[in-house]
Amino acid sequence: MPARLVVLVSGTGSTLQALLDAAADPSYGAVVVAVGADRGGCGGLRRAEAAGVPTFVCRVHDHDERAAWDRALADRCAEFRPDLVVSAGFMKLAGPAFLDRFGGRFVNSHPALLPAFPGMYGPRDALSHGVKVSGCTLFLVDAGVDTGPIIAQRPVDVIDDDDEHSLHERIKVVEREMLVATVGRMLREGYRVSGRKVTIP
Ligand code: GAR
Repeated sequence: MPARLVVLVSGTGSTLQALLDAAADPSYGAVVVAVGADRGGCGGLRRAEAAGVPTFVCRVHDHDERAAWDRALADRCAEFRPDLVVSAGFMKLAGPAFLDRFGGRFVNSHPALLPAFPGMYGPRDALSHGVKVSGCTLFLVDAGVDTGPIIAQRPVDVIDDDDEHSLHERIKVVEREMLVATVGRMLREGYRVSGRKVTIP
């Protein structure tokens, strides 16, 4: 049986698309069983619909408090019985209820080499700091902001006339490859977490 992935998105969904494309090949070993978003009408939802994948929207402002949204998000994901939940450009922090349910099998991809430049603006912050190399990081989500155990990283050179957009787009090319390759290996081969160290045998 292929492993089951739920993917969470907020934006254009190019990372989701890379996963959908990879999962179309049975040898990938995983299928995207649902795509969830924190807002309606985003490109990621349209890509899921085009691929015939069920979608759901769970908006913070439809709930009385953040904790209720967090529980609802966990419930919606759980309906699809995922082996792994992938945050692919999902611009919300999951809270305790979500992590209770999916901790250890919730991964996020970030467009910087963590622990440098966490948060919403990884490429912008890296450029402002003047780094010569940035990149991307896949990690297991914990209760902090981009602080969880690192699973994979890839470097990307910064070039002199980069702006935030050009750097982010070059990172995203590498990031898609990293995410697809690493998630596939995690699901096919399994993975171990020992403290902060994640190993895929
Ligand atoms: C990706 O670069 C992802 O790392 C980033 O949003 C982009 C999503 O692109 N996420 C964050 O910055 C989260 N802190 P996409 O919508 O084209 O997949």
